[in-house]
Amino acid sequence: MVGRYDTPRLRLEPIEPAHAVELWRLHADEPVAIWWLGRLRLPQAQAVADEMAAGWARDGVHKWIAYDRVSGELVGRGGLSYQHVDGARRLEIGWIVRARYWGRGYATEIGRAGLEVGFGELGADEIVAFTEPDNLRSRAVMERLGMRDPRPIRHHGEHFVLYTLPRP
Ligand SMILES: CC(C)(COP(=O)(O)OP(=O)(O)OC[C@H]1O[C@@H](n2cnc3c(N)ncnc32)[C@H](O)[C@@H]1OP(=O)(O)O)[C@@H](O)C(=O)NCCC(=O)NCCS
Repeated sequence: MVGRYDTPRLRLEPIEPAHAVELWRLHADEPVAIWWLGRLRLPQAQAVADEMAAGWARDGVHKWIAYDRVSGELVGRGGLSYQHVDGARRLEIGWIVRARYWGRGYATEIGRAGLEVGFGELGADEIVAFTEPDNLRSRAVMERLGMRDPRPIRHHGEHFVLYTLPRP
């Protein structure tokens, strides 16, 4: 099990059922809600938190919730999870950051932590990330992390672009 992880600025904790309210707060952020799942009602946030906690128990890894190490403020969430993407079970990495913290490199910092764990402890041969084609901020994070070869995919019937990073 991967577990908690500290980056230079963030405390990353495995999401558990008790984080439902934090997820609800994160997804209530309007610029976040535009891109991802929309606003969540509290029972939906609870379902997401429960599903992620189950993912940690089942796969030994799933998304982290991210707090500022100094202030303790909620910054976002992200990290690794095994997902069925483009016809195969793949190790996927993602990030969501509260809008007030955009433009400071926090998503990239979460991403770097995920790559380190994925290629280190988990021994992955490749890590993928995907987003809506017009989500340029998320694509920029992928590119900053060295992810390459974007290609169009369908996921749950929607159009996305998939980036891949092979084991360095
Ligand atoms: C996608 C998302 C996480 C990206 O956030 P972000 O703040 O743009 O990304 P980063 O945290 O990597 O920050 C990069 C920016 O900070 C700057 N920066 C400052 N310090 C930095 C550092 N130490 N390292 C990297 N970048 C840094 C970069 O120059 C860049 O600035 P720019 O946007 O003016 O080019 C954010 O837009 C978001 O939460 N969107 C809604 C949810 C979402 O769509 N998630 C993705 C689903 S696939």
